Amino acid sequence: MRPPLGRVLVIVPTYNERENLEPLLARLHVAVPTADVLVVDDGSPDGTGQIADRLAAADGRVCVLHRREKAGLGAAYIAGFGWAREHGYDVVVEMDADGSHAPEQLHRLLTALEEADLVLGSRWVTGGEVVNWPRSRELLSRGGNAYTRILLRLPLRDATGGYRAYRRRVLDALPLDDVASHGYCFQVDLAWQAWKAGYTVVEVPITFVERVRGESKMSRAIVAEALWRVTWWGLRARPRTRALG
Ligand code: GDD
Ligand code: MN
Repeated sequence: MRPPLGRVLVIVPTYNERENLEPLLARLHVAVPTADVLVVDDGSPDGTGQIADRLAAADGRVCVLHRREKAGLGAAYIAGFGWAREHGYDVVVEMDADGSHAPEQLHRLLTALEEADLVLGSRWVTGGEVVNWPRSRELLSRGGNAYTRILLRLPLRDATGGYRAYRRRVLDALPLDDVASHGYCFQVDLAWQAWKAGYTVVEVPITFVERVRGESKMSRAIVAEALWRVTWWGLRARPRTRALG
């Protein structure tokens, strides 16, 4: 048996999530009342940062990290991870602000983390699903995950997903300052690094529900970055993998 989990911080990155943040935090406080929250806002022009400040003033479990400009999901999480380490959290959770990651399913991740170092909420394992995604988006995710799995030889079904829980020791061990991924490939980057470093990475099924309000920030540039970085990591790893037999 591993020791109990300790203090949990849920990091919620936001860019123009004005209509989504408050309902999400309300659901989270009901689902897991003991978890603290860090909103990492990249200077959202729609005023999400001010809403976050108001929510933080009203509830001691909520804090806000304001960053000047939109610098990508990866950079926002790296800043959040640094904050979590400074503030002594034992478990760090990634959760989108738009309600796609159900707070009511967080206990699945936390329960699995009792026997693991990194838990991925997975859309593409048995029992996992996606609700209301266009076919094109599903193909992109399935294709991206297949490419990642084959090229990196990473035995995970959903390495691109953004609903996950880390034990602090993983964040302490990985060279976070050197993570260059700006966009959503940051998720693959960290899953791969954790797995390569020998940590126990497990997947639990989640139901990902496409956002009802606001817009996705997924873009061609984010897809392009993921494609070239995963390809580069895969090619770089090949000779070493062969040498190891
Ligand atoms: N602070 C900050 N800065 N937050 C950002 C940025 C940024 O540059 N870009 C996106 N976000 C926030 C959004 O506000 C939202 O809370 C979360 O990151 C996810 O963004 P979405 O735009 O809703 O992502 P998605 O639904 O298209 O993509 C989902 O699938 C991806 C691929 O599987 C997410 O779950 C991603 O995490 C995942 O990689
Ligand atoms: Mn979304």
